[in-house]
Amino acid sequence: MTDKKAGGDVRLTGISKTYGSFTAVHPLDLTVPEGSFFALLGASGCGKTTTLRMIAGLEDPTTGSVFLGDKDVTDLPPYKRPVNTVFQSYALFPHLTIYENVAFGLRRRGIRSVKKQVDDMLELVQLGDKAKHKPHQLSGGQQQRVAVARALINHPQVLLLDEPLGALDLKLRRQMQLELKRIQTEVGITFVHVTHDQEEAMTMADTVAVMNGGRVEQLGAPSELYENPQTTFVANFLGTSNLIEAEVAEAAGGQVVVTAAGAKLRLPAARCATQPRTGGKLLVGVRPEKISLAHADDAGDIADGRNRFTGKIADSSFIGVSTQFVIDSPVCPELEVYVQNIERDPRLVPGAEVVLHWNPEHTFGLDAAQDIDAGVETVEETA
Ligand SMILES: Nc1ncnc2c1ncn2[C@@H]1O[C@H](COP(=O)(O)OP(=O)(O)OP(=O)(O)O)[C@@H](O)[C@H]1O
Ligand SMILES: [Mg+2]
Repeated sequence: MTDKKAGGDVRLTGISKTYGSFTAVHPLDLTVPEGSFFALLGASGCGKTTTLRMIAGLEDPTTGSVFLGDKDVTDLPPYKRPVNTVFQSYALFPHLTIYENVAFGLRRRGIRSVKKQVDDMLELVQLGDKAKHKPHQLSGGQQQRVAVARALINHPQVLLLDEPLGALDLKLRRQMQLELKRIQTEVGITFVHVTHDQEEAMTMADTVAVMNGGRVEQLGAPSELYENPQTTFVANFLGTSNLIEAEVAEAAGGQVVVTAAGAKLRLPAARCATQPRTGGKLLVGVRPEKISLAHADDAGDIADGRNRFTGKIADSSFIGVSTQFVIDSPVCPELEVYVQNIERDPRLVPGAEVVLHWNPEHTFGLDAAQDIDAGVETVEETA
């Protein structure tokens, strides 16, 4: 779709933004590979929009440079950058038809024969039959697609999207996430998408940069971030993590053994984000869906070699595909465990004594010097 074959990547080097004494974005190095769907994910106020606006040229960086491909565009005004932005409020021109809304960028550049391009673009966003409508006759999701078409028709090397789905209800949001992903795959240009919704970032992006307080905490594929969080913020912000405060009993031969309230747990040394030292502290993490629950009466049936300890069910919520349990244990208060609803054990009700057990390979280790609650519930606050 884009004429430019090369140079669609975005490179930020040492880019930062301060407002008076406040630093919105700390010096940041970031490369967005050409053709990728890249998400900037973080809670409100962490600097996502500021970063995006610096790429677009709508904000002057305090330090650092912006490259698009090989070209340093730091000093170029927004309209000279091969970049288009779709904002959350994607205000279409209300008096123009959908066709003319999409044609706008071409007409402004003095291009006369726009029909083929506009038709192609409307087809891409599956709105060919709505060409003669006015924006108010379209649903929120359809208007959103017009906004994307209106930006893409300029053949930008990079499309920037700042919470473009924020105004849509949940169901439409989910639909549009898949739709945007399809469009990106089809046109193959680089998308940089800003969102505070971790599920949205994980659904759409090849690579996610998790931002916190003006810094990128971790960058990687969604599964990599989820399975191998390097900080407590990432562990808690992306999904739910159970973090257990433990002491390192042994660290040798690629294996780490820790103790927590008398329980002995094992994890691979390779899954520790910090060097474990015998006698030192370690935060041991495990995701809720990795843990199995056995009623205490069946404790003898659990296979050898698994991490295990006992607890008591404090709460359970049936949510259809799974049941979410909260377990109290001296090892860790308020552990979350998600059990798929395949064969439900009627004994697993609040008050029941249970054994939690999981494969040691599914355990990760984090530096215990961090705030164990970093990133908890920031998602809800900003939703
Ligand atoms: N013009 C400005 N002057 C002073 N501070 C600003 C200015 N613009 C942004 N900030 C501050 O910089 C920080 C980052 O803002 P930014 O808009 O990048 O956040 P964000 O991650 O996009 O948040 P949200 O998810 O709420 O949109 C915020 O604390 C904000 O208050
Ligand atoms: Mg923002």
